[in-house]
Amino acid sequence: MGAPRGEFSSRLGFILAASGSAVGLGNIWGFPTQAASNGGAAFLLVYLLLAFLIAYPALMAELIIGRHAKANAVTALRSISNDRFTYNLGSFTGYLGIATASVILGFYAIVAGWMFAYAMVPVSDLLGMGGFADWLTGFAVGRNLIFMTLFMFVTIAIICGGVQKGIEKWCTRLMPSLLFILVALIVYVLTLDGAGEGLKAYLVPDFSRIADPQLVISAMGQAFFSLSLGVGGMLIYASYVSDKEDIVSLGRSVTLLDIGIAVMAGLLILPAMYVAQNNGVAIYDAAGNLISEDTLIFAVLPALFETMGTAGIFVALAFFVLMSIAALTSSISMLEVPVAYAVENHGLERKRATYLAGGVIIVLSGVIILNFEALFGLAIAASTRYGQPLLGLLLCVFAGWIWHRDGVLNELKKGNPDAEQGPFWKIWPFYVRTIVPAAIIIVFVQSLR
Ligand code: TRP
Repeated sequence: MGAPRGEFSSRLGFILAASGSAVGLGNIWGFPTQAASNGGAAFLLVYLLLAFLIAYPALMAELIIGRHAKANAVTALRSISNDRFTYNLGSFTGYLGIATASVILGFYAIVAGWMFAYAMVPVSDLLGMGGFADWLTGFAVGRNLIFMTLFMFVTIAIICGGVQKGIEKWCTRLMPSLLFILVALIVYVLTLDGAGEGLKAYLVPDFSRIADPQLVISAMGQAFFSLSLGVGGMLIYASYVSDKEDIVSLGRSVTLLDIGIAVMAGLLILPAMYVAQNNGVAIYDAAGNLISEDTLIFAVLPALFETMGTAGIFVALAFFVLMSIAALTSSISMLEVPVAYAVENHGLERKRATYLAGGVIIVLSGVIILNFEALFGLAIAASTRYGQPLLGLLLCVFAGWIWHRDGVLNELKKGNPDAEQGPFWKIWPFYVRTIVPAAIIIVFVQSLR
């Protein structure tokens, strides 16, 4: 069926692609703004615990299944099923993953489009095109449609190139640039007046918040979103990894990079907020809470950049280019989910499959834009609050209960002959059968209350 499968050319190629998927708007926007509104370091602490103890083991389930099956989630889960029921459950899980990935990309592309638009503002300011800059920052349907489509076309162009010439090539260029811009911005912001107070708000925990169920629910959702869990994107990336590689160590690197970059983004965003306050920009809303989410990114930070004079133009450009890069290396992993399925299971040529899936998602995004009030929040909730936890749970059930234990061990041994003696094999199989599913269920039920 179809052309021969793609494969990442090296260990680093996979690590940059998978951490490119993981590191996205969730890290640079979602994590710091949630930390800001949930007690700073208290949120950071709970997030670190949940990311390592729950999200990482679930990610490993996805990676091990993907590398073993060398196929998209639908085929992969069918191949480790052992009777008619689990075969159908595998198909269901795979299809639900494709649908969820598409809906996530549906709203993600809209937000990413705003990042593209805001990245053009400093340029048009420099060129003296103030009117154009106003249009770029206004919330018009036309602007939203144009920039969502633009962003999707860039995503489509990369995915058309395939595994090595598309995903790997662009992630190995973009991820180092992302890291460089992030570090440069942190260093710059930390030299400004007021930054120290932001560091305090971020790094000194308010322990009274730690047992707050809302905080735990947000941190868990954030960890799942950030590691791109459940929808089969990590599974398909792992399916492009050579058998020579130690999949456990790869998964560890990706998790550490993802969490590390989220923590670093906090070192940028929270100090920046207090610098803004120092410069006379309001950072608390009428109710006395820190301003967060979209108002923070699209109002507070741009207002801060304006108080910085000429330097502000370059800082604004760097910041929104950073956001755009983060979004792009994530969106390609979402689009790869339906594309890999269409290529492998329906024999479509890659370019065709990419334009088809990308076209469907552009239409979906367009519908969301045209009914923004009704659909935007709904798409986010359906895919991330319901879809992702359910899919994460199903993948743990497949890895822990349905797939034969020897199959899992053999897969681990491919890249590491001593896997049976290692700590991972001592803890993970039991863990992914019991603790992880239980934790997902408990947090999910809590979130419904
Ligand atoms: N993890 C990315 C972020 O933090 C977003 C992302 C990419 C994603 N692929 C995903 C989220 C699959 C859920 C599922 O922004």
